[in-house]
Amino acid sequence: MAPKHKTNKTASAVPRHIAVVMDGNGRWATKRLLPRGAGHKFGVDALKRLVRGCIAQHVPVLTVFAFSSENWSRPADEVRGLLELFVQVLQRETAELAAQGVRLRFVGCRDAFDARLIALIESAEADSAAQCRLQLNVALNYGGRWDIVQAAQALAASGEPFTEQALARHMCLADLPPPDLLIRTGGERRLSNFLLWQIAYTELYFSDLLWPEFDEKALAAAIAAFARRERRFGGVPQAPSSADGLRVA
Ligand code: IPE
Ligand code: IPE
Ligand code: MG
Repeated sequence: MAPKHKTNKTASAVPRHIAVVMDGNGRWATKRLLPRGAGHKFGVDALKRLVRGCIAQHVPVLTVFAFSSENWSRPADEVRGLLELFVQVLQRETAELAAQGVRLRFVGCRDAFDARLIALIESAEADSAAQCRLQLNVALNYGGRWDIVQAAQALAASGEPFTEQALARHMCLADLPPPDLLIRTGGERRLSNFLLWQIAYTELYFSDLLWPEFDEKALAAAIAAFARRERRFGGVPQAPSSADGLRVA
């Protein structure tokens, strides 16, 4: 079968889709003798910088991990504070994001959210539906394993034959290109159950910056590192072109 992908030598050096594990808010706050919740608040500013940076760099799709299916295991007051912060941010920022051309989508299980948060999510998605400069997907109560199970359940309910392609069509974000680049801040080298299916061939980039410290310069460094990667998708390295050969000789 013909290869579906090309290496970066021929593909665009700008990722079509960036996924971000925004980690390190708690440690950022603790280092400053602040409550962890302060780190989450400053993390919102870093997310706004990331959105502006992606627009400036012409990245069309951004998916951010805001709350994992495992984050419910945190102390109750931190979970409550995070859910309240999501409500406040949606109330405060949705119109401004739409004005920047940002289309919002939320991925994850909504069953656990209260009616107020669900209503804000639904109106943010509806109100930004006409925007097309940046598709911003926010993973909220999301887990990669949950995603695979919900896709399998939907596929079983549809009665279609169980194939890789059919399952892929039921995964979250199936209508978008898979992430080209995944950035995780905070120094940990793990996925923590983010987008397990979608990142099979994603380039991974780990930054020791804590999430509230992440800025446009850090984004540019991640994109530059991505541009230097050679993606092979199971193939072999590209042969040097004859022009390269002439230079070497
Ligand atoms: C990421 O930062 C934000 C969420 C998980 C909601 P953390 O809160 O995990 O920060 P650290 O990793 O404890 O520093
Ligand atoms: C991943 O960070 C989840 C989010 C950033 C929302 P965690 O802080 O929850 O991950 P672990 O616990 O270090 O693996
Ligand atoms: Mg963390």
